Amino acid sequence: MTMTRRKFLETSAVAAGVAVASAATFSASSYARILGANDRVNMGFMGVRSRGEALLGSFINAGNINITNICDVDSRVITKSSALIKAAGFNTPKATDDVRVMLEDKNMDAICIAAPDHWHAPAGVMALQAGKHVYVEKPLSHNPHEGEIFIEAQQKYGKIVQMGNQQRSSEETAELIKYIRDGKLGHCYRAETWYGNNRGSIGNGKVVTAPDWLNWDLWQGPAPRTEFKDNYVHYNWHWFWNWGTGELCNNAAHELDIARWALDVEFPEQVSVTGGRHFYTDDDWEMYDSIEARYDFKGGKSIEWTGNSCNKVLRYGRGRGILIFGTKGHVIVDRGGYEIYDINDKLIKERKVPNRAVNTSDLKGGGMLTDIHTANFLDNIRGTAAHQSSPIKEGHTSTMLCHLGNIAYRTGETLECDAVKGKVKGAKANALWGRDFQSGWDMKA
Ligand SMILES: NC(=O)c1ccc[n+]([C@@H]2O[C@H](COP(=O)([O-])OP(=O)(O)OC[C@H]3O[C@@H](n4cnc5c(N)ncnc54)[C@H](O)[C@@H]3O)[C@@H](O)[C@H]2O)c1
Repeated sequence: MTMTRRKFLETSAVAAGVAVASAATFSASSYARILGANDRVNMGFMGVRSRGEALLGSFINAGNINITNICDVDSRVITKSSALIKAAGFNTPKATDDVRVMLEDKNMDAICIAAPDHWHAPAGVMALQAGKHVYVEKPLSHNPHEGEIFIEAQQKYGKIVQMGNQQRSSEETAELIKYIRDGKLGHCYRAETWYGNNRGSIGNGKVVTAPDWLNWDLWQGPAPRTEFKDNYVHYNWHWFWNWGTGELCNNAAHELDIARWALDVEFPEQVSVTGGRHFYTDDDWEMYDSIEARYDFKGGKSIEWTGNSCNKVLRYGRGRGILIFGTKGHVIVDRGGYEIYDINDKLIKERKVPNRAVNTSDLKGGGMLTDIHTANFLDNIRGTAAHQSSPIKEGHTSTMLCHLGNIAYRTGETLECDAVKGKVKGAKANALWGRDFQSGWDMKA
């Protein structure tokens, strides 16, 4: 079977009617990963549209997989990705719109979940129960309670779970973390993180019959049923609490994760936010589009995230990034490398990776970090990895910061937390710890 990421991307681009003459190249390391059939991992993909399609390419590039199954509730997406997979040299995978059917396939070793957020933990737990390893996109869960059940299930079934916070697999970021752990930046006490984009209005949807190509019942899955509106699917679901988790879980999940890693902190003692909807105020978007979230940790350490969904403000020339303060200087880090400055703001060390620019308007992601991150997941399944980049506990703890910011926003309260137990105090905050499930879809480990 021969397949290259370049070929996959080219075929994908042709199908999408766009030109990508300079699409990512098939890396040499991928060839090195083509191992024997015993190491081949049989993968099933749940959600193969935008991010899911990028992940198909990354998993292929990571090497030595078989794509045995795909699952999507949009029949057009199934048709397109089946053709892409076949054109890439694989056998046509088994296809279904029901993840429960896909999980019955004993031949499948692992699942990649890139369906909407309300499906992440429920599908992840079902997959663990079916004996599969799980690569799950960020956020790990739709709410804290689901994250806790997901952790419990991973411990019970013992399979590998990796969240899609791909910067955890950045060699440059790991090198920086070592620099910090070695004390070279002094005592690190604060991080500022940010994200800016120029998202447009999602308009005002009309209640209509769900289109023929969509299984709306399975799209909703564990979420309580609502009538279909013509501006939910695809992507805009991000901005409705029933399914989405806001820009915090959508994008702060990446930079808060790196900040937390750098500062070596876990659960905060206090969380406060200021935010609101300032753009397109008469459309259906239920959340903030502009927010500052502040997290205070034990020992006077703090992290802030500034999210501008509709105002693409660049800081230090970057649409997203992390600024870390130490007593010997500061560092700016993003997916493309880092710059270390001394206490007098003099650049003393930098590492930049060419062609890894971060354009926040690219909603698909993909690229080399995702290739490395998926390869790390596969190597953990094979037992050949030196370490796991993003075990479920790390993914959960970083996702929790995002959930706490959302809860602070929704309650309008500063959250007081029990940092040791990983819980919040107060009735209003605790009322948002979990969600109501559609009858028959309750989660259990
Ligand atoms: N790590 C990253 O850099 C990154 C980048 C983009 C998106 N993401 C994450 O990936 C996920 C998907 O994002 P997207 O932008 O591709 O969303 P999308 O709405 O464009 O695509 C979701 C796909 O999932 C399918 N789907 C919905 N319910 C399903 C079900 N029950 N079974 C199978 N398929 C189902 C939809 O039909 C659609 O094809 C989100 O959770 C998002 O947060 C991560």
